[in-house]
Parts: sequence; structure tokens; C-alpha cells
Amino acid sequence: MMKRRTFLKRGSALLALAGSTGLGLAGKAGLTGTAHAAGVAMPLPIPRVLDNLDNSGKTATFAMAVQQGSVEFFPGKPTSTLGYNGNFLGPTIRVRNGQPFKFSLHNTLPEVTTLHWHGLHVPARWDGGPRQPVPPGSVWEPEFTIRQEAATLWYHPHAMGLTGKQVYQGLAGLLLIEDEVSDRLDIPKTYGVDDIPLVIQDRRFFTNGAFAYVQSMHDIINGVVGNYLLVNGALQPTLTVHGGLVRLRILNGSNSSIYRFALRDKRSFQVIASDGGFLERPVKLDSILLSAGERAEVLVDFTDLSAGKEISLQVDQIGGNRFDAMQIVVDRPSTSSRRVPETLRPLARIPESEAGHVRRFSMETMSGGGMGMGRGMMGGRLTINGKKMDINRIDERVKAGSTEIWEISNRSGMMMAMPHSMHLHDVQFQVLSRNGQAPPPHEQGRKDTVLVLPGETVRMIVRFGDYKGVYMYHCHLLEHEDDGMMGQFEVY
Ligand code: C2O
Ligand code: CU
Ligand code: CU
Repeated sequence: MMKRRTFLKRGSALLALAGSTGLGLAGKAGLTGTAHAAGVAMPLPIPRVLDNLDNSGKTATFAMAVQQGSVEFFPGKPTSTLGYNGNFLGPTIRVRNGQPFKFSLHNTLPEVTTLHWHGLHVPARWDGGPRQPVPPGSVWEPEFTIRQEAATLWYHPHAMGLTGKQVYQGLAGLLLIEDEVSDRLDIPKTYGVDDIPLVIQDRRFFTNGAFAYVQSMHDIINGVVGNYLLVNGALQPTLTVHGGLVRLRILNGSNSSIYRFALRDKRSFQVIASDGGFLERPVKLDSILLSAGERAEVLVDFTDLSAGKEISLQVDQIGGNRFDAMQIVVDRPSTSSRRVPETLRPLARIPESEAGHVRRFSMETMSGGGMGMGRGMMGGRLTINGKKMDINRIDERVKAGSTEIWEISNRSGMMMAMPHSMHLHDVQFQVLSRNGQAPPPHEQGRKDTVLVLPGETVRMIVRFGDYKGVYMYHCHLLEHEDDGMMGQFEVY
């Protein structure tokens, strides 16, 4: 304890030295000898697929332990981490629509955690939010049926006030749903070979290698922004592919960063899926913006890339750093003649006339208090409709199966123009408009998380599900969420 305190103090001093650049505590020059700097290409780690413990293949039965670990992101400077069944991050869970699902989580940590299925239509009592704490040493065993079309979802802890810290330490993983549509489509689907999971997160480190999580009020208001980028837990790894079409399933798994993704040589790609699954048809883009918690699946054509030639995945942190996140290299030319399909799946727009109710949400970050004040002093400032999360208060009641319009406004004070990322549990919604304008085609699919920039109002239409109970809505900038930018809706 003593040790940790001294260490934090030292970190703060370093942070003060780093000044307003936000470059964190371990400057790139300060930590040499990374795998990349040493010229050793680290292959992109692919999270393993979690074993189904049920041999009949009917019920998806999985077990995981959440545990403490250690990773040497920098040789000789071990970082204390958390992971599921490992040191950092967690395995990929693959299930099929219609499949009964049984899961067991053993919490071996000395603190409470939860496991939330982000994006999943799930009974409220198995949602894994702050209402389902898993105390140290205990086992949590949800059981339900997957009732959802193919999508790239994810899971992460969600204990009250601890989400950001635990995700930062390494708790996150992918949950992939497959269905007849994903079976039928002629798209890359060999996991880890041409269907590549990418969990993108940034981190900040102390010079001794420890993660430098929230150090100040500034970190809470702005979110913790890192100066190192991890792809599946690795710094600047190399992905080797066989050319042709490659599918990237991208998760912005960062705590609070908004990323713009592009290929360094500016080649375009086709977006085929948003948070909740396939779009109606591919959308060609040359960069895509994802806020914290959002996903996209894209197809990139490497047919023209000659063997041995490298290009990099470029990640721009909005208002922050530019990273060459990952090198992509083709080991041999592709023999496949696969083309991007013209259509993916029918996707009916929910008609606005179906909505019986409009609710308005105002996400507020007000200036005041100022730097150097304690967390409590600024406590009233990050709110939704002027309120902070209270687990004993239900903020909204919605009827099961009903359709509503939710209007989310970002009313940042002038001095605190912060983006927010609104997320709803249990549902996939459709974005109707952003400041009155129709969203771009790649944002017209099913979504569970949406970026709301300062001054913007995003209108979305939501069909609530049939499971009754209490779910969360919140800003997915995890420092905002933990500070109370969250509310509860009850489906009745
Ligand atoms: Cu991804 Cu309420 O969370
Ligand atoms: Cu969620
Ligand atoms: Cu926010």
C-alpha cells in the first residue's frame, strides 16, 4: 500500500512535467527496447476461441476465470494486468443465433467484478451490469438463449465505479454471433486467418511499466488518453495475410478515445457490419470513425499487394496521437477470386410512425471547479438530464415491445466540449438523424453505441425487447460512466 502511494505520487509529478501535451508518463524515448524498436516483428496475437464444454454442440457452454496477471509490454518492466483465462484480454466466444447458452465466471480477483454482454439481447438479470455484482471468490452462472442475428459483440466488466479501471487493466473480449446469413455469405470467415479480430485500445504507462490509469480530474473529464496503442494486447504487431479479401472485425475497446481508422496507403475498404451486424449492402469508405465501444466489420482487398510488401493500419486518436497500429504483410499472392458481395442482408428501417414516445437526454459536461479539485468537488458535473447514476433510482420506464425515439443531445459547456458515446443495453437501435441530417450509410445499420459530438443531437429509434427488467444507458467513455454518466431504464 505504502509502495503504491509513493508510486502514484511520483506518477503525478511526472504527469505535471509532461504538462498539457497529455503525452503521459513514459515518453517513447524513455522506454526503448520494445519489440518493434528492436526490429523484431511481433505477430498479431489472435485471442483463442473459447472451448465449448458441451460436446453435443447444442448448448453453448463456456467457463472463464477472471484473474490477475502480468505482461511485459516493455522487456524487463512487467505490468500488472487482469485477464480472462490469461494475463490480458479474454478469449473469443462464438455462438449461434438460437443456441442455448450457459456460462460460468469465476471471480478470482480480490475485488468485485461483473461480466456484461455488450450489444446482446439478454434477460436483464443476466445482463452483467452493475446490478449483477460478482463478489471476490464467487461464481456467476448466467443461462439464456441467444436470440440475435450475426454480429461482432463484446464483453467487459461493469461493476459500479470500476468499469474503467478493470477494462484498462485488461478485461475485455469478443462475443461473435453467427447465423444463416453469415453462413451463406461468401465473405472471409476463417477466424484468425482471413477473418481477423482487432481489439484496439490505447494505454499510458509509468516509466516502471505500470499502467497509469486516472491520475487527475482532467483524466475523468477528458477520459484517459494513452500514448501507446495496443492491438489485441500487443504494441505494433504484424498481421500476415494471404492477400485477397480480408475481413477485419474492429472493436474500439479503448476507455475514452475516438479513433479514425484508415490504411496508410489510403486504399479504400468496404464496411459490411456495424455494432449489431451486417448492413444491407457494403459501404465503401477510406476511413471510419469509431467511438469507444463501437464496432465495425470491414473488408479490405489486398489482391494487388505483392508478397513481402507491408502497409500499416493507421489509427488517429481524435484530438490526440496518430499511430501506425499494426503492419499488414502479404506472405503469398492470393489464389482466391472472391469479390465483395453486392448485398448482405435485408435491413428494414423502423418507420418513425411506429414510435409512440419521444424521450430526450441531455449529456452534460460543465466546466467549473477547475483543475486540482478533488473528484467530489466536480462531482455534479458529468450528468445525463442533470442526474448522476443512482442504482436505487429508475430513470425511465419503457413498455416491453414498444418503439420509441430517443433524442440524445451533447450539451457540453463551452470550456468542456467533450464528445460522448451513448450506449443502451439489451437493444440495437437505428440512428434517424444527427443534427437533422440523415446519418451516412454505414451508420444506418443496427447500432448499440453512437458518438454524440459537442453541440450535436442524435435521434435514434429503438424497439425495446421482450425481456422485462432493469438495464443501463450510459456514456461509453468509461471515465464518464464511472463518474456517474449513466442511468437505468426498466422494461415493464
Ligand atoms: Cu459496453 Cu454498459 O457497456
Ligand atoms: Cu452494454
Ligand atoms: Cu461522455
